[in-house]
Amino acid sequence: MTDDQKRPEYDFDFHGDALDTIFDDYKAMREQCPVSWSERYGGFWSITGYDDIHAAEGDSDTYSVAPSMILPSFGTDRPLIPLDIDPPELTAYRQILLPFFTPQKMDALEHRTRTIARELLDDVDGQDVFDASVFSRMLPTMVFSEYAGFPVADAAQFDEWVDKIVFARTDEEAVARQAASDVYAYFTDLIAARRRTPGSDVISGLLAADMHGRRLDDDELLDVCYLLFVAGLETTAGTIRASLWYLAQHPHDLATLAADATKIPRATEEFLRALSPVQAMARTLRRDTVVGGVEMCAGQRVALVFGAANRDPRHFADPDEIRIDRAENPHTAFGIGAHRCLGSNLARREVNFGLEEFLRRFPRFELAAPAPWHGIGPLLLRPFTAASDQRSVRPPHL
Ligand code: HEM
Repeated sequence: MTDDQKRPEYDFDFHGDALDTIFDDYKAMREQCPVSWSERYGGFWSITGYDDIHAAEGDSDTYSVAPSMILPSFGTDRPLIPLDIDPPELTAYRQILLPFFTPQKMDALEHRTRTIARELLDDVDGQDVFDASVFSRMLPTMVFSEYAGFPVADAAQFDEWVDKIVFARTDEEAVARQAASDVYAYFTDLIAARRRTPGSDVISGLLAADMHGRRLDDDELLDVCYLLFVAGLETTAGTIRASLWYLAQHPHDLATLAADATKIPRATEEFLRALSPVQAMARTLRRDTVVGGVEMCAGQRVALVFGAANRDPRHFADPDEIRIDRAENPHTAFGIGAHRCLGSNLARREVNFGLEEFLRRFPRFELAAPAPWHGIGPLLLRPFTAASDQRSVRPPHL
């Protein structure tokens, strides 16, 4: 870029409270500067167009995932495997991980997922108001922990670590770093225990996995476990919570899904498109490049803003409207390139079965207090019961 060219800038952020108004940011960025620079987190470019993001995802010669896709980091300078590994090394790691996440393997978790969901709903049944974020968090935490071999008894500790690593990291880096170091220590012990006494879980499977004639070493195992831990729990929790948040405010859509559970999978895709828990992932430029007429330099960080791509009007009609029956929905919530989410089969089932069980138990509910659409914080819901219907038809002065 020459000195007299002005760098397009937008004070963009995709974490914390900035998510309250992020969909307005996307509109403004699309109109003013689809590729723009933000000074936050050491400085990064944002690419917001659907086609530009597709092109970047397919160009690992220009866009590297090293040192990390996560901006700012999840409290560690170690690579998250396979997220922070570029092709061709990426392929071998994905090959050993994919068998643990096949549709068939995930189908086998249906019964357990529904049972856990029902038990969690039993805990709140009969309450006038309850915090649905507990359900949203505990369901994926318990289902995946059981499957992966993370001791479910430590679930409350997992949630505390995830809060610090995923959510506190933007303001309190030291807190995230301490939590990350605690998680590495925890998994070091857990991997050693599984090495001594293997089970039928993912950790034991990874210990035995053949990676082109060798086993994963302890560091690699640790870096895979850390990624599965941070990627597998909070993202799905956020999706279930955001779906309930939306349905609590759209009684017609709620009634539609409660009356016909076969419509839930399509609605889930729409919630993933419009309210994705992962709004952006970062890359680092290996070489200078130009996108949308904007020159970017080797070494600079770039956010691929999936959340903006998912609302690109050139690809989605009325993108800011949530249509639970949207038929064509090629969203980018799970990424689209070589690093496409390995957990999407699991995440989709957890959300679908979770919503189905929730709506069967509570076919009508509303927000009992305002709450942001994003994150995994409290979501107070008030279910309607026959008794509350009686109350609601009573004239207000009685
Ligand atoms: C709704 C829930 C989820 C969302 C929205 C989500 C989203 C994503 C995204 C955007 C990426 C990066 C794609 C890219 O940059 O191209 C990713 C990667 C990944 N996700 Fe998920 N994810 C979810 C759930 C899960 C679950 C439940 C697991 C595992 C238990 C998981 C495991 C992974 C792994 C291992 C990767 C790295 C893949 C690679 O680098 O090759 N995710 N996910």
